[in-house]
Amino acid sequence: MKRDLRQKFVVGNWKMHTTATEAMQLARAVVDGIGIDGMGVKEDDRVFVMICPPFPYLALVGEILKGSRVLLGAQNLYPEKEGAFTGEVSPTMLLDLGCKFVILGHSERRHKLGESDAFINHKVRVALAAGLDVILCVGETLEQRKANQTEALLDRQLTCGLADVPADTLIRLSIAYEPVWAIGNLEHHATPQQAQDAHAVIRRRFAQMFGEKSAQALAIQYGGSVKPDNAAALLCRDGVDGALVGGASLIADQFLAIVLAAISASRTKRKSA
Ligand code: 13P
Repeated sequence: MKRDLRQKFVVGNWKMHTTATEAMQLARAVVDGIGIDGMGVKEDDRVFVMICPPFPYLALVGEILKGSRVLLGAQNLYPEKEGAFTGEVSPTMLLDLGCKFVILGHSERRHKLGESDAFINHKVRVALAAGLDVILCVGETLEQRKANQTEALLDRQLTCGLADVPADTLIRLSIAYEPVWAIGNLEHHATPQQAQDAHAVIRRRFAQMFGEKSAQALAIQYGGSVKPDNAAALLCRDGVDGALVGGASLIADQFLAIVLAAISASRTKRKSA
C-alpha cells in the first residue's frame, strides 16, 4: 500500500490500560474486525491503522498483528541507544519488537510527568534518527484557549519540538492535535470547526518552518474524546487526516467504528479529488 497518511490514519493509544489477556483479546478483535472481510475494508482502502499498547505488552500484541494491516506503535521512548537508564525503553528496543511508530510529546507526559519542549525535541530527533516514525502531540490547555493563546502555544510546541529535525526525515513525522481540555472529557471535545482551524494553524506553521510541499504532505490527526458518534464529522473536515484515540480504542467495537468512519471519509476524499 502506498504510504500516504493523509488518506486517514487512525491510532489507538491504550495508555496505561489492559492486562496481558485483555491486550491480546483487544488486539485480536481489532485485527479480525479490520480483516478484508471483517468490515468491508477493501484492499485499496488507504486507511492506516495502528495500536499502541503499554510497553509490557508490545511483544504479545506484535505477534497478533503480524501479517495483518494493523501497525504496532509505542507510547513513548527514552532518547538513548542503551545504558544505565533504569526503567527506560530505547528506540532500538522498540524497533526490535516490531514498532513502526512512537508517540512523543503527549499532553499527559508534558503535564503529568513534566516533560519539557527541549526534552521532547531530543526524543523526536533521536527517534527519527533511529528509524522510528514519530507522532508529535501538541495542544493547548483550557486556560490557554480561553486566553486566546492557542495559536502561540501551537507555534511554540512546533518550533521547539521540531527544532533541528532533518528535512529528509519529515516524511516520517506526523502531528497529533490534542487539545488538553478535550482529552478523556465526556462533555467537551473540539468541534469539527475548532479541529479544522487548529489543524490549519499547525499546517501553516509547518509550512513556514519546512516549506509548502512538506506541509501539504504532513498528516495531522485530531485527538481528544474521538468516539463513534463524532468521528465522521471530524474526519471529513479538510486537513483532519486521522484520529488519535484514547478511551474508545479500548473497546474493539468503538475503535472499529471509528476506523470505518475514516475509511468512508477517505473514500469520499478520493472520489472528489
Ligand atoms: P481520549 O480519546 O480518551 O480523549 O484520549 C485522547 C488521547 O489522549 C489520545 O492520545
